[in-house]
Amino acid sequence: MKNSWIEVDPAGLSSNIRALREAVRPETAVIFVVKSDAYGHGLTPISRHAAGEGIRWFGVAHLFEAESIRAQLSDVNVLIMGVIRPECAPVVAQQRFTPMIVGTEHGRAVAQAAAAARCTVEAHLKVDTGMGRIGVGWPEAVETFRALQGLEGLKITGVCSHFATVEPKQPERAEVQVERFLEVSRAMESLNGGPLFKHISSSRAVLYHPEWDLDAVRPGICLYGYGATDPAMRFRTNPFLQWKCSVMQVKSVPAGTSIGYYGTHVTEAPTRMAILSAGYADGYHRALSNRGHVLIRGRRCRVLGRVSMNWITVDAGRDSGIQAGDEAVLIGQQGRESVWAGELAKICRTIPYEMLVSIDRGAERKYQRTA
Ligand SMILES: Cc1ncc(COP(=O)(O)O)c(C=O)c1O
Repeated sequence: MKNSWIEVDPAGLSSNIRALREAVRPETAVIFVVKSDAYGHGLTPISRHAAGEGIRWFGVAHLFEAESIRAQLSDVNVLIMGVIRPECAPVVAQQRFTPMIVGTEHGRAVAQAAAAARCTVEAHLKVDTGMGRIGVGWPEAVETFRALQGLEGLKITGVCSHFATVEPKQPERAEVQVERFLEVSRAMESLNGGPLFKHISSSRAVLYHPEWDLDAVRPGICLYGYGATDPAMRFRTNPFLQWKCSVMQVKSVPAGTSIGYYGTHVTEAPTRMAILSAGYADGYHRALSNRGHVLIRGRRCRVLGRVSMNWITVDAGRDSGIQAGDEAVLIGQQGRESVWAGELAKICRTIPYEMLVSIDRGAERKYQRTA
């Protein structure tokens, strides 16, 4: 038996996709970011379901993720947002993936490897407009485009960038990035003698800035139901992944009992405690010690003491009726109560992305059937 398991409701993904699609123009492509196992939701089932909902583009970090998608979806576009190794160029071309080219040397090496295999890689040029991460710096971007133009084995069909920050209260930083991006892409399009496929917006930009949708948007987290709660945003989405485990033992202890490693919690009154079948080895962050809550029988139960490698101890309440074998919700909802990854992330001083991708990849995933 698994320590913990994940329940995914694909209908939730369908309604998030619909909410996004209704907000963006029909001609704007949606590149659904499904890297890191679809943010912990499961790459294969999520991309298949999304394709059934009309998604024609997927964004991944690595070639192996692109290959997983291609194995089940022969006719979708896959954008590889990491830096492909030049020797992978023939596979990338044969599988019709769209990699990002991140500089002149990278582009030349990819072109050379593809040309040697008598194929052509169609790629997007990644411009660093202020993120300070991968990509060609915007001051050199046009020169890079010129250097790569006409190389045998490589065709630059698009140009893209990524925001470092999109803050409605401090819009200047994103605006500067957009200005740089539009300026360099205009110059590239004139060298190209025709339009390039342009995209820059991930979730926060999509949620706040319709004017930056361009030819495509690249949302990830908002389609998993996080970060789309501000009424000022264009649309709302809801989480659809729940993470659960079991109550292994329930026991009553008197006041003054020390709970777990280092005795960081000592009961103030007689307490019924429940020990759960997951711990930090399963991805339940140790920073949730004495601070997180789980749901059992529709009530919030506080984590007592330190989270262990394989166990979590919670306060089961004196007359809750909680018993060994009950289901405990680590992320999700039960009755009227909910604990979503955003709540846990705040306690752990991190972001929902990290909470989701930290969940044990070996945990069994159950996908509810859609009607
Ligand atoms: C290049 C790129 N585009 C898009 C995304 C999706 O971002 P988000 O999940 O915030 O929408 C990511 C995620 O990290 C990314 O690295």
